[in-house]
Amino acid sequence: MNCRELPLTLWVLIFVSTAESCTSRPHITVVEGEPFYLKYCSCSPAHEIETTTKSWYKSSGSQERVELNPRSSSRIALHGCVLEFWPVELSDTGSYSFQMENYTQKWKLNVIRRNKHSCFTERQVTSKTVEVKKFLQITCENSHYQTLVNSTSLYKNCKKLLENNKNPMIKKNAELEDQGYYSCVHFLHHNGKLFNITKTFNITIVEDRSNIVPVLLGPKLNHVAVELGKDVRLNCSALLNEEDVVYWMFGEENGLDPNIHEEKEIRIMTSEGKWHASKVLRIENIGENNLNVLYNCTVASTGGTDTKSFILVRKAVVDEIHSLIEKSRRLIIVLSKSYMSNEVRYELESGLHEALVERKIKVILIEFTPATDFTFLPQSLKLLKSHRVLKWKADKSLSYNSRFWKNLLYLMPAKAVKPGRDESEVLPVLSES
Ligand SMILES: *[C@@H]1O[C@H](CO)[C@@H](O)[C@H](O)[C@H]1NC(C)=O
Ligand SMILES: *[C@@H]1O[C@H](CO)[C@@H](O)[C@H](O)[C@H]1NC(C)=O
Ligand SMILES: *[C@@H]1O[C@H](CO)[C@@H](O)[C@H](O)[C@H]1NC(C)=O
Ligand SMILES: *[C@@H]1O[C@H](CO)[C@@H](O)[C@H](O)[C@H]1NC(C)=O
Ligand SMILES: *[C@@H]1O[C@H](CO)[C@@H](O)[C@H](O)[C@H]1NC(C)=O
Repeated sequence: MNCRELPLTLWVLIFVSTAESCTSRPHITVVEGEPFYLKYCSCSPAHEIETTTKSWYKSSGSQERVELNPRSSSRIALHGCVLEFWPVELSDTGSYSFQMENYTQKWKLNVIRRNKHSCFTERQVTSKTVEVKKFLQITCENSHYQTLVNSTSLYKNCKKLLENNKNPMIKKNAELEDQGYYSCVHFLHHNGKLFNITKTFNITIVEDRSNIVPVLLGPKLNHVAVELGKDVRLNCSALLNEEDVVYWMFGEENGLDPNIHEEKEIRIMTSEGKWHASKVLRIENIGENNLNVLYNCTVASTGGTDTKSFILVRKAVVDEIHSLIEKSRRLIIVLSKSYMSNEVRYELESGLHEALVERKIKVILIEFTPATDFTFLPQSLKLLKSHRVLKWKADKSLSYNSRFWKNLLYLMPAKAVKPGRDESEVLPVLSES
């Protein structure tokens, strides 16, 4: 090793280990019973080592300033540019000054009572505000006493989270539940006595200040099977910002329906600091007038709106269709314009779902009216293979020998092999009556 490098390296090491954590704040509040120190800030390593005369003075109230020396109190220790208290007590409150040649530094020390009923003292907390989803880090460190500390515990609201670590630490993305008081308690021994130093962080988690585009949960169009005379509750829930609103809209051209009630909105904050709202529309004693009309729920914000619709359909109808579809090998849909209500549309969609998604049955579409006349035709029907679409051509198709009936027969399943077994064909025909 090059001998000339050695002094420089040593100098840097000393600088790092001693120059940090001097006491720069002129006004200091500290809790009684803890080890504490004051350190002059312009202390060079040379000053530290040299035998330059260094003096510490204390004055309190009307008292004359007195020079401190190790005999002043058994709790006080003087180490060059550092004045140590083992521990600091209420009587240590006062003004302190350090003098070395013509350098000087002053502090005002206020020693406060310890809260004996808590693991920390409220007046001695460091507050931090962290936004939800942002990085939250809590590190227990004490550079001055580092070498003396032999264990550190981290508490949250006075409940122990981590213990006996040298430097307990929390690193995570902040959630609302993280809010609270985090206390780092460092335990150290000095002259055979056990001391502790507590540092508490008051962590406040605030919601994400950026706005989201609000959304209603669930499908955009909902068919709800109901029985006449019964009640139904339509639940509309949304993920939204605090100031966004959720409301119901439905045709009221015949005046207010006394059987329709909007229930009180319920809001819960999500762990991301957004809101989950739900608002129920209660329809009592369902009548014919409540069927096949749209009940719309909307969430609105400055960032946009979202709407979903509910349609009440008669339960007999629905169950019957389902049970028929269950037993079928083919679903024949007859498109006719006059009967294309919302109710039928629902039947059509639920049948198509079974047929196309669960692939139990094949679909045959009979166009009594050309399909192009239907604006709302379900996408799945538009994609149907052309040989599965039969066009009814008035008089031409009437005869049993017509192309229409031949094609239909061809698309039907083969006859059951074993007669007598219950495999009779059931053909639900959704057409005008
Ligand atoms: C902790 O922070 C919250 C929010 O900033 C504040 O309301 C509360 O008073 C603080 N607690 C203490 C003990 O300082
Ligand atoms: C802490 O320090 C004390 C006194 O020096 C010693 O007896 C004890 O074993 C130390 N504990 C740990 C975990 O280092
Ligand atoms: C820390 O020290 C104080 C005063 O000496 C004592 O009252 C308190 O109980 C100690 N805290 C813990 C966690 O040991
Ligand atoms: C409405 O639905 C949401 C979730 O979709 C649920 O959290 C809420 O409890 C429901 N409200 C009522 C009144 O049923
Ligand atoms: C309900 O919503 C649909 C689709 O957005 C819209 O066409 C209809 O006019 C709305 N009805 C009412 C009563 O708001």
